[in-house]
Amino acid sequence: MSLSDCKIIDLPKIEDRRGNLTVIEGKRHIPFEIKRVYYLYDVPGGETRGGHAHKILQQFVIAASGSFDVMLDDGFTKTRYHLNRSYFGLYIPQMIWRELDNFSSGSVCLALASEYYDEADYIRDHEDYCNMMKGDIKA
Ligand code: TYD
Repeated sequence: MSLSDCKIIDLPKIEDRRGNLTVIEGKRHIPFEIKRVYYLYDVPGGETRGGHAHKILQQFVIAASGSFDVMLDDGFTKTRYHLNRSYFGLYIPQMIWRELDNFSSGSVCLALASEYYDEADYIRDHEDYCNMMKGDIKA
């Protein structure tokens, strides 16, 4: 996997004067079936979340409220996305390092995952991750 496999995906937005609605269907709007949903909230100013990659898990993250940045790293290159709308999100495939920061006050990061929670799927050491991506260590 490389950064070119990561992408912003626009979601359907059903506009209504009573309030807008956005829907996400697994395998239809995003490339995987959704097995798990979690969200980050009450993130104190200046905090960083993430700081890991996943061996198998694919993820889609949305700024359901407010905004934050997602820094992606494939072991060779880094890029930064700013998420600030609830009608698009960032697709992150397996084996991409991510860090989330610059959370606005009251923001909510909604994360959809292709797998159930499994600590064994995490790569939490950045040096190990870079070695894996450079082919020194098998994932
Ligand atoms: P982690 O995935 O490291 O958080 P983030 O990447 O968003 O900063 O998870 C933080 C803690 O929460 C860790 O102890 C594992 C636990 N956790 C679960 O129990 N279930 C889950 O679905 C998730 C995402 C985390």
